[in-house]
Amino acid sequence: MNEEIKINKRPRRLRGTSSIRSLTQENHLNVRNFVYPLFIRTGKNQKIEVESMPDIYQFSIDQVMYEIEDLLKLNVDKFILFGIPDKKDEYGSNALSDNGIIQKSLVEIKKRFPEAFLITDLCMCEYTDHGHCGIIKNEELDNDATLEYLQKQAISHAKFGVDMIAPSGMIDGAVKYIRYALDSNMFKNLPIMSYSAKFASNFYGPFRYAAESAPQYGDRKSYQMSFSNRNEALKEVKIDIEEGADIIMVKPALSFLDIIRDVKNTVNVPIAAYNVSGEYSMVKAASKQNWIDENKIINEILTSIKRAGADIIISYFAKKYAKEINQK
Ligand code: PBG
Repeated sequence: MNEEIKINKRPRRLRGTSSIRSLTQENHLNVRNFVYPLFIRTGKNQKIEVESMPDIYQFSIDQVMYEIEDLLKLNVDKFILFGIPDKKDEYGSNALSDNGIIQKSLVEIKKRFPEAFLITDLCMCEYTDHGHCGIIKNEELDNDATLEYLQKQAISHAKFGVDMIAPSGMIDGAVKYIRYALDSNMFKNLPIMSYSAKFASNFYGPFRYAAESAPQYGDRKSYQMSFSNRNEALKEVKIDIEEGADIIMVKPALSFLDIIRDVKNTVNVPIAAYNVSGEYSMVKAASKQNWIDENKIINEILTSIKRAGADIIISYFAKKYAKEINQK
């Protein structure tokens, strides 16, 4: 009785077998929460690999159908579309045109695969010749002039059958203006997923080749956030929710897992995280050298994003995960 009872703290008891490990596993990935990005360009019979992103392609509309067919079989059924227009101009006219690349894609894909959930990235940088995310006046992005264009772009996407709009330009007031425009045009039920906390990141480099959207001068630091900031992300997220965002996004994901968790602990709307191009290309490059085990690394990366608090994961790895990793 007098003998002191020693308590053995042994967390390892829950790690001994694969059964007990799976019994106590806290986070699980689900392919149904993935969104796969698709780059669509004009022309026919085009399937062009993006040099900086192995296994990622720019597709013409006829070719993207095969890709979507494959993905649907893998239960990857949500897509975010990026358009690469033929011609770019100062005002990004193709973004608003009834014959625009996104407008045509929406119609064709919906016709063929009504079950595909289509999200459009709502931004002007892929359509402007200067490559900035809005209207430029005196070499500066004119925030308020841009809002009107975003409203028109949103209504146009809605008219052509989009399932969700994702404004990605970090333009102040965008969610409010887009929500108002949609509501006044009978699209009250169309959700908005806002790129709320989008950082001016060096990890977007490979994407800008893929979408051919690099700014021709300057950078995006006057509208995207500094990667040094944390409080500001919460401010942005709260503003977007007040303005009517249904889902908010943190982007990029990996260097910003703390931000995802902050947001998760603060708000009660679904959180999306964008596992961006640079995060993809680094893994592909290292794996090409056989320096890492690609599939295991992908699984760990995607799980870490989920664990940080993301409900939705936008990733170029979604296809590979669904095809090769999911079952193991
Ligand atoms: C468009 C947009 C960008 C990305 C998604 N939407 C580029 C940017 O802001 O420069 C980046 C995605 C990626 O790197 O995978 N505004």
